[in-house]
Amino acid sequence: EDPRINRIKTSIRVVPNFPKPGIMFQDITTLLLDPQTFKDTVDLFVERYKGKNISVVAGIEARGFIFGPPIALAIGAKFVPLRKPKKLPGEVISEDYTLEYGRDCLQMHVGAVETGERALVVDDLVATGGTLCAAINLLKRAGAHVVECACVIELPDLKGRERLKGKPLYVLVESH
Ligand code: PRP
Ligand code: MG
Repeated sequence: EDPRINRIKTSIRVVPNFPKPGIMFQDITTLLLDPQTFKDTVDLFVERYKGKNISVVAGIEARGFIFGPPIALAIGAKFVPLRKPKKLPGEVISEDYTLEYGRDCLQMHVGAVETGERALVVDDLVATGGTLCAAINLLKRAGAHVVECACVIELPDLKGRERLKGKPLYVLVESH
């Protein structure tokens, strides 16, 4: 295994019972405090996706906005934010979803992505997979091809991978 992976894993702080009892919160803000570890995280994704003809990186609010843009810049793709409801000013398409603790919705600007574009979906973490599934649906509705979903952390016990409509999921670390 790449030696960078272990430093990434140990830099993530696990906070029990946040934001609700029973949730083991995976806090990536501690990873961001170490510039080398933050850079290693971005680099691992860039090494995987450069040269793959990806024209759009879609980042999921809020923590996909941290990792998505540096990846997009490095691979020469545009960045498209997938936002929580009522944040985007233009015409949007929406996808409702359920997540580990509640219900939510993601929206994307109409016209941000064109038919036939090759997309990478980026977020910090996959738990139940509901959020990534909504993102995949938005991109499909816009006519894009989702090449892969990329997250820093996977909670494999929640089997989110099985909800992704056959789209591949790449993660750096697993947390049980
Ligand atoms: C967390 C996390 C992922 C999502 C994963 O975000 O950042 O986006 O949950 O859960 P799932 O796989 O069960 O859908 P959250 O919705 O808490 O919002 P935030 O990123 O804006 O803090
Ligand atoms: Mg999130």
